[in-house]
Amino acid sequence: MTQQIAYINGHFCPIDEACISTQDRGFLFGDGVYEVIPVYQRKIFEFDAHLQRFKNSLAATQIPNPMADSAWRILCESLIEKHPWEDQFLYLQVTRGIQLHREHLPEENLTPTVYAYTNPLKPIPEQVLQNGIKVITLEDIRWLRCDIKAITLLPNVMMKLAAKQAGADDAILIARDGTVSEGTASNVFMVKNGELFTPPTGNKLLPGITRQVIEAIAKAHHFPLHETELLPSDLAHADEIWLTSSTKEALPVTQLNGQPVGTGKPGEVWKTFKQHYQNFKNQFLEAHR
Ligand SMILES: Cc1ncc(COP(=O)(O)O)c(C=O)c1O
Repeated sequence: MTQQIAYINGHFCPIDEACISTQDRGFLFGDGVYEVIPVYQRKIFEFDAHLQRFKNSLAATQIPNPMADSAWRILCESLIEKHPWEDQFLYLQVTRGIQLHREHLPEENLTPTVYAYTNPLKPIPEQVLQNGIKVITLEDIRWLRCDIKAITLLPNVMMKLAAKQAGADDAILIARDGTVSEGTASNVFMVKNGELFTPPTGNKLLPGITRQVIEAIAKAHHFPLHETELLPSDLAHADEIWLTSSTKEALPVTQLNGQPVGTGKPGEVWKTFKQHYQNFKNQFLEAHR
C-alpha cells in the first residue's frame, strides 16, 4: 500500500495525520472552496484553467488566495512526485480559516486553511464504456451560486443517494426554472441530429474544465455545438446524452428515467469525441515531454 501524503498549512505529512482545528470555518460552516485537477503520466492537465476557476471561487467567496500561482503549481508537483501513480487527481481546498467565536460574519484577517492531497486516477471500467450509465432526472435542490466550486456538497450527496436508491448511477438536475443544469458532479451534453448542445454557463452550473475542452475539440473539428437552455423534454428525445468531468471525461448515458437514450447504446458521436479527447490528451503530453 502506498503511503499517501497530504499537504496541510505549509507542511507535508501522512494523510491520516493531517489535522485541522474543530473551529475551522470549513468544518463548522462549510466556508471554503476546492478544486479537482487530473494528472496524466505525471503531468497536470489544464492546470491554468483549473487554477483560474479556483481563483474565481476564492474571489466570489471573498476568501483570500493564500498562494501565488507558482506556489500552487509547486505544491501540485510536489504531491505528484511523492506518489507512484502515473495518473492521479489532485484535490486542493482552501477554507476561510479558524475562528474561535461562533459568528456567521467572518472575522477580519483570518488565516485561510490550505489542504491538498492526491489520489490515483483509475480508468473508467470497460463495462461502463460498453454499456453506458443509467440516469434519472431530479429537482436541483442546490443554491443559486453553482458556478462556485464550494465545499458545501450536502445537496449533491443527497441527490446522488436518491439516484442510487432509485436504481440509477447518477442524476441530471432540473433547476427551479425548469431547465437542465448539470449532473451531481458533472456537466451535461446532448446530441440531436448530429449537433451538440449544452446548457450555458451561469449561476446554475459549474463551468467544467472538461466541458471547456469538449467545446475546444468541437470547434477544432467544426462540429456544431450550441450553448442553449435544455428542457427535460429535449433530453427525452436526445440521440445521445453525456456527463463530463475531470475524473470521468465523457460518460455515455444510455438510459434516462428508465427509457433508452437513442439506440440504448453509447452513440457514434460520443465514440468520435472519446477518440478526439484521447488525441487532445496525447498532444498535451507530447507538448510537455
Ligand atoms: C457540480 C459539478 N459540475 C460539473 C463538474 C465538472 O467539472 P470538471 O470538468 O472541471 O471536472 C463537476 C466536477 O466535479 C461538478 O462537481
